[in-house]
This record gives sequence, structure tokens and C-alpha cells, in this order.
Amino acid sequence: MANLLSVSILNANFGNLAQEIELINNSEADWIHLDIMDGVFVPNISFGMPIVAEIKRFAKKPLDVHLMISNPDNYIEAFKNAGADILTVHYETCTHLNRTISHIKETGMKAGVCLNPHTPVNVLEEIIEYVDLVLLMTVNPGFGGQKFISNSFEKIKKLSNLCKSKNVSPHIEVDGGVDDTNIKMLADSGVNVMVVGSYIFRSKEPIETIKKIKVLQN
Ligand code: DX5
Ligand code: ZN
Repeated sequence: MANLLSVSILNANFGNLAQEIELINNSEADWIHLDIMDGVFVPNISFGMPIVAEIKRFAKKPLDVHLMISNPDNYIEAFKNAGADILTVHYETCTHLNRTISHIKETGMKAGVCLNPHTPVNVLEEIIEYVDLVLLMTVNPGFGGQKFISNSFEKIKKLSNLCKSKNVSPHIEVDGGVDDTNIKMLADSGVNVMVVGSYIFRSKEPIETIKKIKVLQN
């Protein structure tokens, strides 16, 4: 299956959100990546359910919602109702991760788990067979436009090995600092979903940039 591109709107123009979503609709992007930040788990605040629901009205692609919030269990239904298709929680925020993942799946959403850069892959050993997606942070979460952390390649390899040893194949997604300098290497290392934000929205022709990424990643 072809590798997927999930466009992060964190650095899009929020004054023209409908137009930015329309741009993604008209592009070769596969998913729309929405970063939810609470100012507690990460040192930044982004947006919540009302904005996700508004985006859902315009979006013609699945909403890939990345929760960077404490106590995500309290908001699973709310994000389902707002229109999330994939809901990813941070390992670091879930005391009962197995329960959280089951709860997400029961609502009909795909369930993902995300690891901060310093969290080792082996913490996923007993959960990997239950998740639809593993998201590896390749920057410290909280902001768009940061520099890719280079030891992420080794971590991706460890995750691929873990998946092989368990005979499972969740989506392997990376998030942060992804651009034309590392996309091909990421795809070659086993990543099949790239989150890309500022590289697209800072470019002059976002639709063309998306097209270029799709070529580089496949
Ligand atoms: C960071 C967010 C990322 C971010 C990616 O906390 O989770 O999704 O928006 O943006 P870029 O591509 O700018 O690093
Ligand atoms: Zn994200």
C-alpha cells in the first residue's frame, strides 16, 4: 500500500481555516492532522472540539487527531462526536492504556498511541497488538516548525522490529520536522504515514509541495 501523508494544520492560517481545509481537500494529501494541546501536558494551547467539528464540516479526508492533553480518557466521546476518525493518545498520559485504547475502538474510531522522543519503544510490547497506529514524535511536542531529532531513525527501526516479532502491522507515523531532506529516509526505514506541517504551509505553492512529498515518500 502507498505511504500516506497527514497534513498538520498547526501552522496554517486560522483566519482562513475553511480555505486551508479546501486546499487540503484539493490536494493529494491523505489525512488531516489536528494537534490538540492543553497547556498542561505540553507548553502550548492550540484548539479543541468546536474547531475540530467545524473542520469536519469542510473536510473531505479523514481527521487524524493527535491529543497532547492530560486525562485524554475524559474526552474520547467528545472527539468522536466532533468528527475524529483516528484518535491518538500519548503513552505518557495514560495510566490504563489498554482501557483507553479499547474505549477509543468501541466508539468506532481507529486508535493510536504516541511516544515522546525520550520514551523507548519497548513500552509498547504489551499494547502493540491492540493499536491501529503508532505515532513517534520526532520533535518534543508542543510546536510546529521544530528541528527533526535525528536518533529517531534508530527508534523507527526498533519499532519495525517489534511489529515483526509480534506479527502485527499498525500504521507507523512520524510527527515533527519532516521535510524533503528526511522523507525518503523515513519511508525507507518503515514509516508509512508522515505528518508534515510547516514545510507545506511555509511553501509558496502548498498543493505542489504536497505533490512533491507524495512522490518522495513513495
Ligand atoms: C507538534 C505537533 C506536530 C507539528 C508538526 O507538537 O504534534 O504535528 O504540527 O509540524 P511540523 O511539520 O511543522 O514540525
Ligand atoms: Zn501532531
